[in-house]
Amino acid sequence: MANCLSEERFESEIALLRRLPVVYCLSAMLPDNGSYVARKAAGSPLLVVRADDGKVRAFINGCRHRGMQVAKDSVCARAFVCPYHPWTYGLDGELRHIPGREGFPGVELQDRGFVEVGALEKGGLVYVNQNGPIDASMLDDVPDFFAKEQAFFDQREYFDEANWKLLAETTMEGYHIKSLHKKSFYPYGLDNITLVENFGAHSRVIFPFKRIEKLRDFGPKDQCLDGMVTSVYQLFPNVAISVLSKHSTVTTFEPLNPTRTKMLIYRATNTASDGTSTDLEEAKRDAGFEKDAGFDEDREAACAIQGTLDTKAYIWAFRKGDCAFPSNSG
Ligand SMILES: [Fe+2]
Repeated sequence: MANCLSEERFESEIALLRRLPVVYCLSAMLPDNGSYVARKAAGSPLLVVRADDGKVRAFINGCRHRGMQVAKDSVCARAFVCPYHPWTYGLDGELRHIPGREGFPGVELQDRGFVEVGALEKGGLVYVNQNGPIDASMLDDVPDFFAKEQAFFDQREYFDEANWKLLAETTMEGYHIKSLHKKSFYPYGLDNITLVENFGAHSRVIFPFKRIEKLRDFGPKDQCLDGMVTSVYQLFPNVAISVLSKHSTVTTFEPLNPTRTKMLIYRATNTASDGTSTDLEEAKRDAGFEKDAGFDEDREAACAIQGTLDTKAYIWAFRKGDCAFPSNSG
């Protein structure tokens, strides 16, 4: 738990998030050449764009002139023009134009393109590695999550006063379904029954719905799990992909400092076990259930836990009568 307060630990986690391939956005958020998503990841302003050749490229979102952030939000562009002094870059990140060119003798356009970082698309997700190119083998352990026909339909951001790991942990166990989610998930989901499987550095936690009991009437070959479970894939280090009945949610836990986190949520239609994509309206209805249900309860729990971490309440060795605060403990 001390790891949820430590500035040193936070710095090392940021370094880790920059040197691994981490999910950045959905492929479906970059439908056309020129579509881009600009946001911070592990503290770095990034710009991820589908270039003219259809490939996804990722750059530091900083003009090579004075470092101004060039792209904003997520739309479509034919070029990127710095809003400070309008240096202009192509979708491939190359610098195309310097206004008042005569004022920059010796500056070659080909030397001043955006600083590129690693990017790779796999299974409907875009991964970024800020420390270098991504070799496809680095993602061998990760399954393909989305079919080509996936539809992206929702994007949200949440800020919480809690360490990112406390928020992420709420997606990893079902021990709290009955107590914390009495009126939200528990009427539909089984309490304290999960199946956890590991693959590489990642894992999948399966949360069964109560209706899974119906499958007892079927033979093993006919026991289709579609709509019977929520599968939550934990993609190391900081992304959870929840596959619900009719849609999937990609949640990224972005550490802002040791005690503050930004959660980014992207939602898309599902790929059923037969490879087809679910209906968009059905997916939106399904997402409404999730939003209205236990999500806020998990966030409140993480923040409440963060509030006790300055005390010894979380130390199992603590005994009644010991001083609660480490500074007075002698
Ligand atoms: Fe929960």
